[in-house]
Amino acid sequence: MNNITKICCIGAGYVGGPTMAVIAKKCPHIKVTVVDLNEQRIAAWNDPDVSNIPVYEPGLSEVVAEARGRNLFFSTDVESAIDEAEMIFISVNTPTKTYGAGKGQAADLKWIELCARQIARVAKDNKIIVEKSTLPVRTASAIKDILQHTGNGSQFQILSNPEFLAEGTAMEDLDAPDRVLIGGDSTAEGQNAVQALVDVYANWIPRERILTTNVWSSELSKLTANAFLAQRVSSINSLTELCEKTEANISEVAKAIGTDSRIGPKFLKASVGFGGSCFQKDILNLVYIAKSYGLDEVADYWEQVIIMNDHQKRRFANRIIKNLYNTVNGKKITFLGWAFKKDTNDTREAASIYVADHLLHEQADIAVFDPKVQAPQVYADLDYLRTREPAENKSGVTVVTDPYEACKGAHAIAILTEWDEFKGYDWQKIYDSMLKPAKVFDGRNLLDAAKLQEIGFQVWSIGSSI
Ligand code: NAD
Ligand code: UGA
Repeated sequence: MNNITKICCIGAGYVGGPTMAVIAKKCPHIKVTVVDLNEQRIAAWNDPDVSNIPVYEPGLSEVVAEARGRNLFFSTDVESAIDEAEMIFISVNTPTKTYGAGKGQAADLKWIELCARQIARVAKDNKIIVEKSTLPVRTASAIKDILQHTGNGSQFQILSNPEFLAEGTAMEDLDAPDRVLIGGDSTAEGQNAVQALVDVYANWIPRERILTTNVWSSELSKLTANAFLAQRVSSINSLTELCEKTEANISEVAKAIGTDSRIGPKFLKASVGFGGSCFQKDILNLVYIAKSYGLDEVADYWEQVIIMNDHQKRRFANRIIKNLYNTVNGKKITFLGWAFKKDTNDTREAASIYVADHLLHEQADIAVFDPKVQAPQVYADLDYLRTREPAENKSGVTVVTDPYEACKGAHAIAILTEWDEFKGYDWQKIYDSMLKPAKVFDGRNLLDAAKLQEIGFQVWSIGSSI
């Protein structure tokens, strides 16, 4: 089965959509069908106006426009797509469990199991199953167990092929990844399956960048790669507090640390705290796995990354409150940015949500502007916390579609996302429209603090005493 011509991907989300679009673009000889239970999502992927596709990623709509209808298809007919495909990617969500054993830490594998059972029910011939979702180490054995009992003699090979793309740069990451990781069984059949997937990627990725390992190493590498990345952010963020006390400057410290080639300059940008759907969930899962093997010290070590991140978000909100004379009751605070990072419309676990929640406790009036996030998403994010009634979130938060309007009459502006466009705003105009003293709390160290001070703003940057 080395020459793959038909691929199906279950899950048309932030990973399934972009990854399959790139495979379709790079492999015009392969028919790629992306399926999802969510009819609205599939309808949006099929929208004749490609600017309405459900995932915003620079460069994605162009690729979808090129490949859709040629060899890239989006459908809700999961069964037909499974039946037809030689290789099936599972790219469904694996969120933190919100109930029962492992609540708040373990990954909820309900959707993975549903996929495996559906494949078992529908498949009539041999298939290669590819874990694209991020999964706890040893999940492949559970999938295999379910698939072995189809009763019709079909053979399945399970591969682990975790995705390392970051949102906002997904298309570049998929086009030229640092590496592609493929884990498979050491049996001849397992190695054949690995080779089949290597051959797909080899259409555009140099062979030396395609790493092959056993299944368990591949599954574990994904969780731990995310843990390492998040740990760097928490490490630098832990130093911001020390910088604020000592008049050291975090950008200077980060540069000095990062120019050591053993450490490297990337992922040392101080911030209001990391967000996104994966860092927190994957570390919590790692902590849970370590605990389940009785490795308490290992679990505690990684848990600290989350503790530091929660502290950073709370600290940012508290700094706003403290510098607004210890009360924000009834004061207008404008959030520039709601997404968890720039160049994405994804808001999952964004720091903005938690900072807003904290300020709403203190009865602030929050105005939000984000270039890619609309009002229903902002309210859904706050309501999801279940801290207060949806009506209270609605009355405490206003989502504004014009940034200057959002800032008018505000006591303070908080930068929550590092959107490039914020740098180019007319800050004099913004200053003139605000209450005085006009304050800026820059949670991303995005703006030129000295220039803002010249205009008359009081500025607080992360990790510096100004
Ligand atoms: P997502 O929530 O955006 O998309 C998942 C999709 O799967 C949803 O549209 C859902 O409707 C669909 N789905 C769930 N069960 C299904 C089923 N049984 N049949 C058909 N469709 C089903 O999630 P995502 O951000 O794309 O993440 C998917 C996985 O990839 C997760 O395990 C995540 O950890 C991992 N990952 C995410 C990123 C990222 O940047 N978002 C990067 C690397 C890895
Ligand atoms: C991250 C990883 O970078 C990807 O390799 C991985 O595939 C993905 O998680 C996943 O498994 O979901 P992503 O969350 O999309 O990607 O974005 P990142 O660029 O990693 O940023 C995560 C968060 O950390 C953002 O809130 C970002 O603002 C913050 N961050 C990042 C910092 O605060 N400082 C930094 O120096 C870097």
